[in-house]
Amino acid sequence: MKAKVSIDLSKTISKIDDRIYSSFIEHLGRAVYGGIYEPGHETADDMGFRQDVMKLIKELKVPMVRYPGGNFVSGYNWEDGTGDKALRPKKMELAWNSIETNEVGIDEFQEWAKRAESDVMMAVNLGTRGADDARNIVEYCNSKTDTYYANKRRENGFEDPFGIKVWCLGNEMDGDWQIGTKRPKEYARLACETAKLMKMVDPSIELVACGSSGPFMETFGEWEETVLREAYEHLDYISLHSYYGNPDNNSQEYLGSAAIMDKFIRDVVDICDKVKAEKKSEKQINLSFDEWNVWFHSNEQDKKQEPWQIAPPLLEDMYNLEDSIVVGDLMITLLKHCDRVKIACLAQLVNVIAPIMTVTGGGVWKQTIFYPFMYTSVNGRGSALETEVVSDTFTEGKAEKVANVDAVAVLSEDEKTISLFAVNRKLGEDAELDLSGFEGFKLESHVSMEGDDLKAGNSMETPDNVTPVTHEVGDSIVLKGGSWNFLKFTR
Ligand code: AHR
Repeated sequence: MKAKVSIDLSKTISKIDDRIYSSFIEHLGRAVYGGIYEPGHETADDMGFRQDVMKLIKELKVPMVRYPGGNFVSGYNWEDGTGDKALRPKKMELAWNSIETNEVGIDEFQEWAKRAESDVMMAVNLGTRGADDARNIVEYCNSKTDTYYANKRRENGFEDPFGIKVWCLGNEMDGDWQIGTKRPKEYARLACETAKLMKMVDPSIELVACGSSGPFMETFGEWEETVLREAYEHLDYISLHSYYGNPDNNSQEYLGSAAIMDKFIRDVVDICDKVKAEKKSEKQINLSFDEWNVWFHSNEQDKKQEPWQIAPPLLEDMYNLEDSIVVGDLMITLLKHCDRVKIACLAQLVNVIAPIMTVTGGGVWKQTIFYPFMYTSVNGRGSALETEVVSDTFTEGKAEKVANVDAVAVLSEDEKTISLFAVNRKLGEDAELDLSGFEGFKLESHVSMEGDDLKAGNSMETPDNVTPVTHEVGDSIVLKGGSWNFLKFTR
């Protein structure tokens, strides 16, 4: 099969906001305890942060990390994770039926983020709490005033504010699994008033309102419209969450997942613009896709976990080759919408549906999905170019008329490099690329995620079972049937 990829250097989708390569650490399973934090581990630094994990996170170049949840945040009292560690309460954590020791809280996490060369994206609890606690934590984190919460921060050893710029107004508040689930109108009012107060404390912050928990929700659409109508002028972003998977073991259908993400994004953009028009507003609401990934492998094993453990192994999906192709493809879709998707968080970063896995008290290894994320994050900086792709399509199960090949080209800031991220979703059919608009550029390298066994994955024992394939650069460019690819062109 042949596929044509055309670009024009003068036609860009948008400059890419680096925060599209953000990620997420929740107080869930072994993400924090045994993941990023393990005092006593042979690589732990002075604050107990694992340096072996930190090294891999830096390879991913993650500009911002969402924290502390997720479902966790809807029952969380942020003060529990501040001040003297000896006085911090151990609590029943109701979102994940675990015990939270509160050894790590915002005091530690903001320092961890600095060391990881990343910013914090902070979520506030709108499940069991509300506007009052939200404005207090903004004061604690960001204020220089001589007032109670800013002084608390100083007492706890932090003279300088943490300067947290992006804040989430709760998490998945329409989900019936959420602590403190809300109806659309209820959440809309709460988000509006909370946003007002938070911005009174620090007008420089940016706020993300919860969208509905996914396109499958009955509330999808109505929820977004209600929230935007109520709180439009106080908001900057609306959130999208979506997880993909292959529970029916239909790999061809699964490789069409990016089309579902694409439609979800287009639908939310339409809603934002409809409300903008209704309000005759100058302001544009952008999208924060602050939870996305593959998540399904661990569902059954998680049901067997005993409740009330400290840092139990939850959501530890073991990813395979086909998952890495899907993750790379989802990133192509996010980039194709980078005019509106300004923030996106791979959920999550360590141990919990994550590219990086640890053994508590032991080593660290990379999952298959580490590689497409890493290549795209490191090389996909600059401007996304309008990338026209002409290819055949396939239909399989719920995947209807999905293009076999998709791609997005990114022009670096200095305009010397084009990074082309491309996927061939059609199993068993290689695609030869016909490029147009790349004149003056020379193909320098081509790596891909591909292989004969779509179910092959990595583990602590076999960490390099699935790694990127490096191709000889020749006259033709061939994308293997069922592959994700990164091609670098320079001039
Ligand atoms: O990322 C795992 C969970 O998925 C988050 O806690 C929640 O927001 C979502 O349902």
